[in-house]
Amino acid sequence: MDELAPNAAVFGIPHLRIDGRAKVTGQALYPSDEAVPNPAYAFLLTSAIAKGRIKRFDLHEARTLPGVLDILTHDNIGGDAKPLVQQAGGKATTTLESNQIWHDGQVIGVVVADTYESAREAAYRVRVHYEKEAPAATFGSKGTTEEIREPGEHEDFHIGDADSAFAAAEIRIDAWYGTPTQHHNPIELFTTTCAWNDGQLTIWEPSQFVYGLRANVARQLGIAPEQVRVISKFIGGAFGSKGSATARTAWIAIASRRMNRPIKLVVTRDQGFTVATYRAETRHHIQIGATRAGKLTALRHKGWEVTSRPSTYNVSGTETTARMYGCPNILTKVNIVHADRNTPGFMRAPPDTPYMFPLESAMDELASALGMDPIELRRINDTPVDPATGRRFSSRHLMECFDVGAARFGWQARDPVPGSMKDGDWLIGWGCASAAYPANIATCTARVVLHGEGHARVEIAGHDIGTGAYTVAAMAAAERLGLPVEKIMVHMGDTDLPPASLAAGSSHTASIAHAIVKACDELRGRLIQAAITSNDGPLAGRAADSINLGNGQLLSRDGAHETVADAVKRLTGGALEAYAENIPKGLNQDTVGKLYQGQLPISRGIGREDVTAYAFGAQFVEVRVHRRTCEIRVPRMLGTFASGTIVNPLTAHSQYIGGMIWGLGAALLEKTEIDERFARYVNDNIAEYYIPVSADICKAEAIMLPEHDRDVNPLGIKGIGEIGIVGVNGAIANAVFHATGRRVRELPIRIENLLCPDRAQ
Ligand code: MOS
Repeated sequence: MDELAPNAAVFGIPHLRIDGRAKVTGQALYPSDEAVPNPAYAFLLTSAIAKGRIKRFDLHEARTLPGVLDILTHDNIGGDAKPLVQQAGGKATTTLESNQIWHDGQVIGVVVADTYESAREAAYRVRVHYEKEAPAATFGSKGTTEEIREPGEHEDFHIGDADSAFAAAEIRIDAWYGTPTQHHNPIELFTTTCAWNDGQLTIWEPSQFVYGLRANVARQLGIAPEQVRVISKFIGGAFGSKGSATARTAWIAIASRRMNRPIKLVVTRDQGFTVATYRAETRHHIQIGATRAGKLTALRHKGWEVTSRPSTYNVSGTETTARMYGCPNILTKVNIVHADRNTPGFMRAPPDTPYMFPLESAMDELASALGMDPIELRRINDTPVDPATGRRFSSRHLMECFDVGAARFGWQARDPVPGSMKDGDWLIGWGCASAAYPANIATCTARVVLHGEGHARVEIAGHDIGTGAYTVAAMAAAERLGLPVEKIMVHMGDTDLPPASLAAGSSHTASIAHAIVKACDELRGRLIQAAITSNDGPLAGRAADSINLGNGQLLSRDGAHETVADAVKRLTGGALEAYAENIPKGLNQDTVGKLYQGQLPISRGIGREDVTAYAFGAQFVEVRVHRRTCEIRVPRMLGTFASGTIVNPLTAHSQYIGGMIWGLGAALLEKTEIDERFARYVNDNIAEYYIPVSADICKAEAIMLPEHDRDVNPLGIKGIGEIGIVGVNGAIANAVFHATGRRVRELPIRIENLLCPDRAQ
């Protein structure tokens, strides 16, 4: 064994979560667990109408209840805050600054009491007098307004002449698709605890971006960001729903300041459907033209997305669908439909989950029309070059994913004729689809302290949203410092620490790992320098490049060694500290300042000048549909992914299969039902909002293809959090078609779609 190999690779070795013990023993403190002294409890007042104005509040009965301390509405605190400008969920809707109602369930006030129960009871006794208007709920409702998205964050593509090419194509697919409203429903509810101390505000709130939340709340309250500290050490599920600041935080901060007392808020499950963000419904018109040999000649993808009245939030997944397959003529257009609804936001694989469903369904429809295997159709249209920009992909192993997956799945045994594979009364369907997600990375900072006792402390305001980020951070430091992972202590989720960006968009591992490695490499260099220049140490006089770190030691090529602990002690007497800023290729130095100000300095895999950077994958699904009852079962799912360097295969596997199982939910179960008359969510609880349970999944397997991409970033990390869900809904729809011959183009696919096919669409 080469002793100079860098700590025999911590990266790529499965490692248990370093925070696992704290979580299963209840020692992990989630934000609402924080024991603030003498707290009062808040309950949100929410709007019972979706559109109009508040004429007045009748608070008399509520105020007389024992224990009620204060009731805040725009009447009494309206001047205390400026409007919230969200990070990414688009412009927020709240009555803090006026009496306007934008959507059902909007926060219109806060009741504060000595106990949670008193606050809730009082909230029920508040009478609100409204001036009602008829709301518009969704696509097709009277009163919605449509606009074509302005170019800005997202791009439309107009390459070649898609209209003429489509008209002239030998084979044409022309179809409409739809995806429903969906809510994340993380098990940990949306909570906020605020406390003031000498003009300093501390907020405990589960957040995917503590610096972003800090900046937003400071701006709203008109105070400096430095006067606000946000703490979010553990998060019980987020999936995008805790990525943006929402209206509730400023309400609680103001209430706490008014009363000079800490206040705790835990939003109820049903209120969570309207006071946080969600995935809005989408519609798609796909037109694909191809030659008889299966070569794409035209792709038109038009999308429609619902958003609130004041926000233009949209996810624009055409930025991915335009890049999936080689095609000379591409036209994409995304349209925004404003309705009287709360503002949507990120939800796992924000653009790609709803937009890849229509594309991957249409590709399957094309394969059927051509009598061609769907994998072969994708092979014919594979491309090393991003068709939207002409730039090459930093790496693209889409077809390798299909080939490895097909072999494992046993795809060659598939009879392509729909309805031909059976097991007794069960019709068997095998479907597949492509997966893709851009490789994103943000500017990030970190501090690492190496202690004389031979352990290290990593300080970074990153976020572990349940994905295993604490463990990945420890592994990155262990890899570079030559220490066992157990010797690394990681502190995250606190604005007193050096800033990291939003934990979202599959960017977090790449972002934090590069900053941590940079800080560690500086420490490493200083340690080695000290060891070789010391007068009496065992490594005195060696060349710097002959020393490596591993197993807690500094090792010289000639066999001499010294422990890291001894070297640190001798060098400093105590601890050695390094702070590093990592600015990804293509971003500027000023992005560090932006990060401190709570902005998002992110290099997106689709926005780079040099390459287009994506992770790719292939999804395979078997469904069984009962011949008489049309019950749909999914006995097995297989995903194969090429996502660059995998830091921790154990937590990565969990992310992949978690995403795939969620994809099953999106395909077959999930839908927020809306009562169109009131623009109101009906199944706003997790009893009636269906999600898959263990009994719905017999077998889910993820294969990680080794992939070394030197262009994506120095560590070759593409990110894995989102891609697992992408394409699964298409693969399931394709499998249902293969089993039954019925093409369902609107999700979720339910028994009634198959029993009554004419009524289905
Ligand atoms: Mo992820 S949905 O971008 O938090």
